[in-house]
Amino acid sequence: MKSFGKNYRALVIGASGGIGQALVGLLRQDDACGTVVGLSRSTDGFDLLDEASIEEQANKLSDQRFDLIICAIGALTIQGIGPEKSIRQISPDAMAAQFAVNAIGPALILKHFTPLLAPSKRSACALLSARVGSIGDNRLGGWISYRSAKAALNQIVRTAAIEVARKRPEAVIVSIHPGTVDTSLSRPYAANHKATQPVDAAAMMLATIDGLKSSDTGGFFAYDGSRIEW
Ligand SMILES: NC(=O)c1ccc[n+]([C@@H]2O[C@H](COP(=O)([O-])OP(=O)(O)OC[C@H]3O[C@@H](n4cnc5c(N)ncnc54)[C@H](OP(=O)(O)O)[C@@H]3O)[C@@H](O)[C@H]2O)c1
Repeated sequence: MKSFGKNYRALVIGASGGIGQALVGLLRQDDACGTVVGLSRSTDGFDLLDEASIEEQANKLSDQRFDLIICAIGALTIQGIGPEKSIRQISPDAMAAQFAVNAIGPALILKHFTPLLAPSKRSACALLSARVGSIGDNRLGGWISYRSAKAALNQIVRTAAIEVARKRPEAVIVSIHPGTVDTSLSRPYAANHKATQPVDAAAMMLATIDGLKSSDTGGFFAYDGSRIEW
């Protein structure tokens, strides 16, 4: 990536996932990247459902500043319960679990990790969202909990971006849709869709983030840099 300068520092939260692993791998291969830190539940005990765990991990890194932070955490099937096909299947517990992982957890990441963004220079924080979280683009229905949790995430990102810009005018805080990507999250549901390989999706997202301007902060983008309607 060129836009952060030489020896830029990157942090990937959710580094154990299909897309998270691919992002870490590409950043490690990038000559301009000086440091890549990966955090995950499996390796570091980073539990998005526990604010104390998020705060503890942020505190461990509090003497460091990052030019790029990406949150690649998310879930579509939680405790064996997949996305609903109909409003008849709505379960309060399953819906709350979707909001916990896909909206509230990322909000806590913004709370505890945006202070680690490098000040007084260009920086970026991208949170993995999903096109199905777009209200304007919803033509198929279904998946009401995941869709609405990602829509909430988009509003959280937009609101946080406005606040972060007051202290860090060059920071870019965005929601990004990776495309349909061949990972354990999508595999059970992607039979009729052409899925991208994680490394290709990760490369496109990094190129998109690299090209974003500070005026793009608070936006909702697809992997290829196109804007997605709210
Ligand atoms: N794949 C797609 O087609 C697709 C499409 C649209 C949007 N997305 C979004 O892209 C992001 C990455 O998805 P993926 O396809 O890479 O999925 P994945 O392979 O299933 O990875 C999900 C990641 O989230 C982590 N995670 C889940 N619950 C967690 C929790 N409570 N605490 C900490 N970490 C937790 C997992 O950690 P563990 O390894 O510890 O379980 C893993 O690192 C998600 O936000 C997803 O919604 C994906």
